[in-house]
Amino acid sequence: MDQHRSHNPNSSYQNPQSAYRRHRDAGGRNHCENKRSRPNQQQQHHHHHQSGPAPNLSTRKELYERDFPVYKQPVEIGCFSLDSERRFFNDGRQMRYYVEPERNPNFDLRDGYKDRYIKRDGNVKEKLDHILRWILANKSKLCSKGAAASPCALDFDFVTWRGHLTKLLTTPYEMREGWLLAVTRFKGTLYISEVETEAARREQENRTERHEEMMYWGYKFEQYTCADDVHSLPDPGGVVNTNEAFCTVVQTRLADHRLLFSGEVDCRDKDPKAPAPPACYVELKTSAEICTPKQRSNFHRFKLLKWWAQSFLPGVPRVVAGFKDDEGVVVNVDTFPISKISQLIKNEHNCWKPTVCMNFCCDFLSFVKQIAIEDHPRSVAVRDDAVQPFFF
Ligand code: A3P
Ligand code: MG
Repeated sequence: MDQHRSHNPNSSYQNPQSAYRRHRDAGGRNHCENKRSRPNQQQQHHHHHQSGPAPNLSTRKELYERDFPVYKQPVEIGCFSLDSERRFFNDGRQMRYYVEPERNPNFDLRDGYKDRYIKRDGNVKEKLDHILRWILANKSKLCSKGAAASPCALDFDFVTWRGHLTKLLTTPYEMREGWLLAVTRFKGTLYISEVETEAARREQENRTERHEEMMYWGYKFEQYTCADDVHSLPDPGGVVNTNEAFCTVVQTRLADHRLLFSGEVDCRDKDPKAPAPPACYVELKTSAEICTPKQRSNFHRFKLLKWWAQSFLPGVPRVVAGFKDDEGVVVNVDTFPISKISQLIKNEHNCWKPTVCMNFCCDFLSFVKQIAIEDHPRSVAVRDDAVQPFFF
C-alpha cells in the first residue's frame, strides 16, 4: 500500500513544458488513421514536434490504488433532447418514465427489428456539437460575470461527454478496446472529444447480422420498460428510433478538476415524490442470462465495471438489468443499486476497484492540463489509450 500511497501523480509525466502541439492546418482533417490502438498496435506515423522524452502516463492499475479521490455529488444543471430526426431541443421533451416490469417478463427483444426500427446514422460524427449547443443556449446562466455577448470563460476545466469519461474510468482494466481522444483548450476550458479508432471503424464495418440485431435488443428492452408520459404505459408495438435521446447535463468536481459533462439518461422514476435528478434516474441494461459460476464471475468482472462507471459519473443511483437468453428473450429482471456494486464484487479475486478507475481518470485529466497548453481552437492534441503523445 505504501508504494501506492507515495505514488506521485506527477512522477509519470515528463517534460511537461515541451511543445507537443502545433496548429492544425486550416483545411487539415485529422490524421488519426495512423494511430496506434490496442490490441493491434499499428505503426505510429505522425509528425509531432518534440524535444526530449515523450510525456507519458501509465495505464497500469497498480499505480492507482491509492485513496479514493474527492468526487463531488454530481448536480444536474440542465438537460436537452434529441428528437426522432436528431434535432436538438433545449428541454426535457424526450424524458421517459420507468414502468417496473414483472420479474420474469419474457420480453421478446427481437420483435420489430425488421419492420419497426429506425437506426441512427453512425457515420454522422456529432463530436461535442450537442453539448456546445446546450452551452450556447444557456450561456446567460453559465456566464455569471455578465458579458454574455462575447464568448465568456466558463467556470469549468473540462467539457466532454459522460461516455468519454466512462472509457477513461475503465482504461486500467480494458485490454481489448482502445480509444482516441482529442482535446483543445478554449478560454481556459479543455474540450475533450472522441475520434474513432481505425480498429473501431473496421469493427463497425465488419459487424455480423447477428451482432447488428443484438445491438437493437438493448433499445427494445428500453421500449418494454419506458413510457412517454407519467401516466401512460410502455408501447411495445411502437417504433424503436435510436435518434431519440434525453440527455442530462451535470456539473461536478474530481479532485481539482471542475467538470461539465452530458450523458444520455434512459428514464426516470415516475413517482412525483422521487428525489430530484439525477437521483431519480434509472439506467437500463441487458445482459446474457447467468447460468454458471464462471458466467457470474465474468459478469462481475466486466459488465458491472462498465455499468458502475457509466452511472456513478452522473450520479444515477440504479441500473435495472434484463437478463436475456440466446434467443433474445428477457428471462428475468434485477435491480442493481450503484452504491452496492463494490460489495457485490468483493468476493471476486483480483477484481476491478472503483478507486483505481477514479484515480486514473483524475491523473489523466491532470496530464491533459499539462499537455494542451496552447489556448487556441485550432490547436488539438490527441491521445490514445497507450497515453502516448500525438498532435496534429
Ligand atoms: P444494453 O445496454 O442493454 O447493451 P445504454 O445502455 O448505454 O443506454 O445503451 C443502450 C443500448 O445501445 C445498449 O443496450 C445496446 O443495445 C446499444 N449500444 C450502446 N452502445 C453500444 C456499443 N458500443 N456496441 C453495441 N451496442 C451498443
Ligand atoms: Mg441503457
